[in-house]
Amino acid sequence: AQNATVINIDLDEKAPVISKHIYGHFAEHLGRCIYDGFFVGDTSKIANTNGVRNDIIEALKKLKIPNLRWPGGCFADTYHWKDGIGPLEDRPTIVNQWWGGVTEDNSFGTHDFLNMCEVLGAEPYLSGNVGSGTVQELADWVQYTNFGGISPMSDLRKKNGRTEPWKVKYWGIGNEAWGCGGNMTADYYANEYRKYATFISDWENTGGIVRIASGASSSDYNWTETLMKNIPNNMLGGLALHHYSVIDWKKKGDAVSFTEEQYFKTMTEALKMEELVTKHSAIMDNYDPKKKVDLVVDEWGGWYEVEKGSNPGFLYQQNTMRDAILAGTTLNIFNNHADRVRMANLAQCVNVLQAVILTDKAKMILTPTYHVMQMYSVHQDAKLLPITFESPLYKFNNESLPAISVSASKNKNGQVHVSIVNVDSNKENKIEIDIVKLGVKNFTGTILTSSKLQDHNTFDNPNKIKPTVFKAFQNKKGKLEITLPPFSVVMMEGK
Ligand code: AHR
Repeated sequence: AQNATVINIDLDEKAPVISKHIYGHFAEHLGRCIYDGFFVGDTSKIANTNGVRNDIIEALKKLKIPNLRWPGGCFADTYHWKDGIGPLEDRPTIVNQWWGGVTEDNSFGTHDFLNMCEVLGAEPYLSGNVGSGTVQELADWVQYTNFGGISPMSDLRKKNGRTEPWKVKYWGIGNEAWGCGGNMTADYYANEYRKYATFISDWENTGGIVRIASGASSSDYNWTETLMKNIPNNMLGGLALHHYSVIDWKKKGDAVSFTEEQYFKTMTEALKMEELVTKHSAIMDNYDPKKKVDLVVDEWGGWYEVEKGSNPGFLYQQNTMRDAILAGTTLNIFNNHADRVRMANLAQCVNVLQAVILTDKAKMILTPTYHVMQMYSVHQDAKLLPITFESPLYKFNNESLPAISVSASKNKNGQVHVSIVNVDSNKENKIEIDIVKLGVKNFTGTILTSSKLQDHNTFDNPNKIKPTVFKAFQNKKGKLEITLPPFSVVMMEGK
């Protein structure tokens, strides 16, 4: 019989808390994310609250969605927020130059988004326009959303029907400044950032504003180095990082009909997140040894060819067990780096890329990725339990990947949660955890798996993949022995 892999889980008082904001989401004006996704308008027959679908609101509340990033992505650096406030009939249109060249009417704007976040109980994370905007424009947006006193922008807000400021905490200063955000060099952007950050005032003096710099693409360590060197820590709340799991930008592969080789490549890209987060964090440590600046992975996920027949600019793709494995391993990486990774945003929430929700007219389905996010939501704001183990390998052709991914936490009620992924698509894996030192005895388990990696939920069969009770474990004298089926995500709860 195969030997069990021993997973050592420690109780370490000095370990960080896993910020709930690691479980954040992203909603761009892209394809059917906002329009015909979240937002159907208040005259729609689909049940809604101020135009936002009630079924989506309920589903996201169940995820305990901690924050939502908006309005982009690339769209953010073309967006002029003043076009999206005031009477609908007076709002100009905007051509979405990055995503399908569609013309939109600006009917979903600042009030709609921030009110929606209040309903969701999520912190808004606004991406400011640096690429084609002005410092004044962004400073005005902050005054409009955050200032309680008398001022031109707060008066305008009140005129538009909102008395109290929303007090938006998270502000992105541009997006992908090295690309669609303006094709800037790192040096140039660092200066731009300093200028913009200066004029973004914490109007209420709450000390609560977090300014987040547009970060590196994947392994562009020079970007992180240059920004950390040139921007004083006290001007920088967070530094972003984007990494997509793409097989090949020219040949991304189908989202559903994929081979084991393509699965292996997707997972190779996904597991690279470990190295990326480690190396970007090490650079940040040099300039910020007290770890005051957050590493914000505000775009991550799998990116495949768009669904056949759909608009290529809309980035609509199905979501299979491959995506569940991708999400489970990525979130474990973030949890284990909670000392520096304090926020992350899956790209994107509804109908775009690795979505947690897909809609088709009045129908809505939850994807395997949704279920992983829900299973993992127990880690939000719980104390990390550091882990050491040596993973068995998942071998394909002449290459190999770690087959097992784990993270663990203890919450305020003393419950322990261990999330485990078996990446191997063919072999089961056995693990063993010494639970005596964790102070919990009774375990229950939940599993997400299916008969094929390519399995997914559809509008006709929405519950093909959903979490079920997991029983393939036993407590043998304080040692928890667990048998993980191939390509499965398991959450163990100990009380
Ligand atoms: O999420 C889709 C796009 O990917 C975003 O607009 C951009 O920031 C990134 O390149």
